[in-house]
Amino acid sequence: MTETKLLLGQILQFTGDPFGPDGPLAAVTYDRRGAVALRGGTILGAGDAEALIAAHPQTARHDYGDALILPGFVDAHVHYPQTGIIASWGKRLIDWLNTYTFPEEMRFGDPEHASRIAALYLDTVLAHGTTSVCSFCTIHPQSVDAFFTAAEERGMRVVGGKTCMDRNAPQDLRDTPRSAYDDSKALLAAWHGRGRASYAITPRFSPTSTPEQLAAMGALWGEHPDCLMQTHLSEQTDEVAWVADLFPEARDYLDTYEAHGLLGPGALYGHAIHLTGRERDRLREVGASLVHCPTSNSFIGSGIMALDELCRAGQRVGLATDTGGGSNFGMLRTMAAAYELGQLRGTPLHPAQLMWLATEGSARALRMDDRIGTLAPGSEADIVVLDLGSTAAIAQRSARAEDIWEAVFPTIMMGDDRAVRSVWVGGREVVAA
Ligand code: GUN
Ligand code: ZN
Repeated sequence: MTETKLLLGQILQFTGDPFGPDGPLAAVTYDRRGAVALRGGTILGAGDAEALIAAHPQTARHDYGDALILPGFVDAHVHYPQTGIIASWGKRLIDWLNTYTFPEEMRFGDPEHASRIAALYLDTVLAHGTTSVCSFCTIHPQSVDAFFTAAEERGMRVVGGKTCMDRNAPQDLRDTPRSAYDDSKALLAAWHGRGRASYAITPRFSPTSTPEQLAAMGALWGEHPDCLMQTHLSEQTDEVAWVADLFPEARDYLDTYEAHGLLGPGALYGHAIHLTGRERDRLREVGASLVHCPTSNSFIGSGIMALDELCRAGQRVGLATDTGGGSNFGMLRTMAAAYELGQLRGTPLHPAQLMWLATEGSARALRMDDRIGTLAPGSEADIVVLDLGSTAAIAQRSARAEDIWEAVFPTIMMGDDRAVRSVWVGGREVVAA
């Protein structure tokens, strides 16, 4: 029989949306001495330690003391092939793509390079406490196989897709409407629903797809509506102006997707900074998801998303690193950046809101919150255990804390992979400090 295990530590759990009208604290429960019970790859329950010990008296225990036990972080928008060019200096979006990104992505026609980077990328994010990612691959089908294979070897729930581009990219990085459709369809058939893998139909963004290619992607999504669809939306003002030139008949940037069958409940749009009123209303009405990429938005100079306003209005929003436009692989640094950008808009996010975005919020954006991003019974046992005093600088601040939020916030603002004490994937401990 599969062994039951108890992980002991401090536990935070969400009972609702911390952006709801009753405020963040109405949406959280906290157990100072808590536990999570696992059986195999599944969470049986989480809450007060004494109650769980009484319910499972003979169970193996992993006691993490004062460490905080959370669902593994969910990174809702990344480009694993950009691992090698993260932290590249001095360019804004279009120049950054042409100078750093496209030359690097060309290397992924080589399956060995793709496999090496996929392994490096996934090991790096696991070390940062991220157990699920939603990744763009490159135009090469090999890059998709490499990604899903590496994730399968690590037991991770991931989403990925072949990035499709048939214009405004180097010749070696272009496909066609037909080949993008055929290759995506074959990859989807091979990987979607295999183990913990899910496929996302992935047109890069409107500037690099002809209307014909967008229509082909929309047709494929129409045939497979249970897949996600991921792309980029309104990241920089130059890009928005370029889209208006390329699609003179479109009402706005979102309309370039909408008109080609690429707007719906399973759509994920990265960035979404410079939105019009119509775009905001339509996105919310349809139930599409936006993904906030705060380190990227400051690093590439894109602007500040109206995160707090959108979340309060009921828009689904996930949080992401956007590796390698983003400047860090970890969700702690990403939460810190979300906080800092919120301050620039006069809307400081509560630590509960930041934690929620990095776990359940992102899982909800991916429409996977029934499986990942929570410690609810039946959820998959993907867990991160955070040391709230991982460096002397953090420890001296959290030692003064008067409540759990003051204890957690220094780790959000100053923490990195040294704060990650343990990571569990599918009920197996894969990182142990
Ligand atoms: N827009 C289109 N492609 C990309 C990309 O690779 N990174 C970012 N940040 N924005 C994009
Ligand atoms: Zn992106």
